[in-house]
Amino acid sequence: MNYNMTDPHSFANSNDVVVKDLDLDISVDFKTKTISGKASYKIENKTETDVIILDTRDMDIEKVTEGMDETVSVFEMGPEIPFLGKSLKIRISPVAKYIHIYYKTRPEASALQWLEPTQTAGGVHPFLFTQSEAILARTWVPCQDSPGIRFTYSATVQVPVELMAVMSASNPVEKSEDGIYHFHMDEAIPSYLMALSVGDIEFKALESRTGVYAEPVTLAKAAYEFADMEKMLDAAEALYGPYRWEQYDVIVLPPSFPFGGMENPRLTFATPTILSGDRSLVSLIAHELAHSWSGNLVTNATWNDFWLNEGFTVYFERRIMEALEGRDYADMLEVLGYQDLKRNVKEIGETSDDTKLKLHLEDRDPDDGMTQIAYEKGFSFLRLVEENVGRPRFDIFVKQYFNKFAFQSMTTEKFLDYFEEDLIRHDEKLEKAIDIHAWVYEPGIPSNCLVIKSARFEKVNASLASWIEGVPAKDLNTKKWSSHEWLQFIRHLPVEMTLDQMSELDAAFGFTDSGNCEILAAWFEHVIKHQYIHGYASLEKFMVSVGRRKFIVPLYKLLVLNPEGKKMAQDIYKKARPNYHTVATSTIDEIVK
Ligand code: BES
Ligand code: ZN
Repeated sequence: MNYNMTDPHSFANSNDVVVKDLDLDISVDFKTKTISGKASYKIENKTETDVIILDTRDMDIEKVTEGMDETVSVFEMGPEIPFLGKSLKIRISPVAKYIHIYYKTRPEASALQWLEPTQTAGGVHPFLFTQSEAILARTWVPCQDSPGIRFTYSATVQVPVELMAVMSASNPVEKSEDGIYHFHMDEAIPSYLMALSVGDIEFKALESRTGVYAEPVTLAKAAYEFADMEKMLDAAEALYGPYRWEQYDVIVLPPSFPFGGMENPRLTFATPTILSGDRSLVSLIAHELAHSWSGNLVTNATWNDFWLNEGFTVYFERRIMEALEGRDYADMLEVLGYQDLKRNVKEIGETSDDTKLKLHLEDRDPDDGMTQIAYEKGFSFLRLVEENVGRPRFDIFVKQYFNKFAFQSMTTEKFLDYFEEDLIRHDEKLEKAIDIHAWVYEPGIPSNCLVIKSARFEKVNASLASWIEGVPAKDLNTKKWSSHEWLQFIRHLPVEMTLDQMSELDAAFGFTDSGNCEILAAWFEHVIKHQYIHGYASLEKFMVSVGRRKFIVPLYKLLVLNPEGKKMAQDIYKKARPNYHTVATSTIDEIVK
């Protein structure tokens, strides 16, 4: 069968010619907020074409050369297309094996967030991190920026001597004397997994294959929080086969990082908001680790197939957590996920095309269509399959899927063919019970979606009910609650509450001053809805310092619902915006305007 692999979000002429290896030689300049240098590609010309097209955005190309002897090439930039940037068309000789692009990024390059010292934990040195997913790699490296194209890479990176550089590659464990760092990634990866961080960073090894990077003031806390990482890695391998990237480290970034985590190979990038002090939010690490199979090994061919990356990863994440913490723990994650799914479908609209697993993001910023649907509807689909075929059979299928398609890209259609051939095998009863078509190609939540129950949440619900019936908050039995139980409690507080009730809860449980960002973000929704003034200072502090989109976007949306709230949102945003990544500001600009 012929699968159409063309990617609507890339200009690359990849049917004719593809990049195979990148050698990057760049220097990072904090004063001008630019990266400049040379990207050398080894290419494979499949059709003897005389042009190679790369993706670029917000960058200036100084010169292009060809071959070992670097003869100068003719190139041309296409017109600027919203989100996609400009194509870079380079004239090549059909026998050329190497091209070299001399370039410089611009300060507005979206993948790059340049932080002032005051925006870091240490407060003394500046910081830079990249975020390439989905189509931002092209703003810091000219590339064939499609998840369906893979290449190996090596890099030489020059940074100020007091700083250290790390990448999604083999990494240094201490600072170099001259500020020059060398990297190599010997497994072929798609461009969206290229990543770089530069800052006052230190390394601490955890166990044989795991470690953490962070600013010195954060390092000990991070090492404590992630102490179970090696166990997660072992559990993951026991489920779905060997970890193929040798080392697994996590870097804790400054709070403006717009995501919870990003699965950059060998080095997950993570928000500091998961450092709760009690290891209660580590399922996020399980998630990013799981991407080492789902996503980084078997990769969505285009962003329309995003659910293959995230749905499998959420499923795998919960299996890792089940292995470490038990079934009742994983049940809580599933129930919270289902709540997220219902909320997200309601928000997007249950007949919206964006609630289908297979997306249609052509002519759009893929970021706009990449919602919780891929995660939680994707998860629910796989969970339903597990329930129907039985866990042992499903596990064999998933393991083989990762193995068979390792280091390849996958379209939804190709996956469904394999699924049919390897698992369903024309079993009509099974086919009917699962109803793949409804899940993948139709909007909303299919009627056969499982509704998971959590025994631990039943207890939470009982406590909540007794509070509503008049038992004082301080007398509720909440001693052994994890942050998931607290989330269940806070999410189900009555829609109508008096300010006295809010104060009572706050006095008993200290929500407003919680050190746990999940709890804070859930609580702040009530703070806003009930105009609980006592919580405003904490709310503002949170929104100004934390740039994690999942937390702040819902809060801005709630605030703007009434005129006073809107004024408050605008005031907060004025202070907060300089701390946010463009991935966040592009969404929030629209909400508060
Ligand atoms: N790959 C995603 C982050 C991402 C998605 C970046 C789409 C750009 C576009 C990452 O693995 C992720 O899903 N992060 C989640 C955490 C997770 C526990 C659901 C996040 O950041 O909230
Ligand atoms: Zn993910």
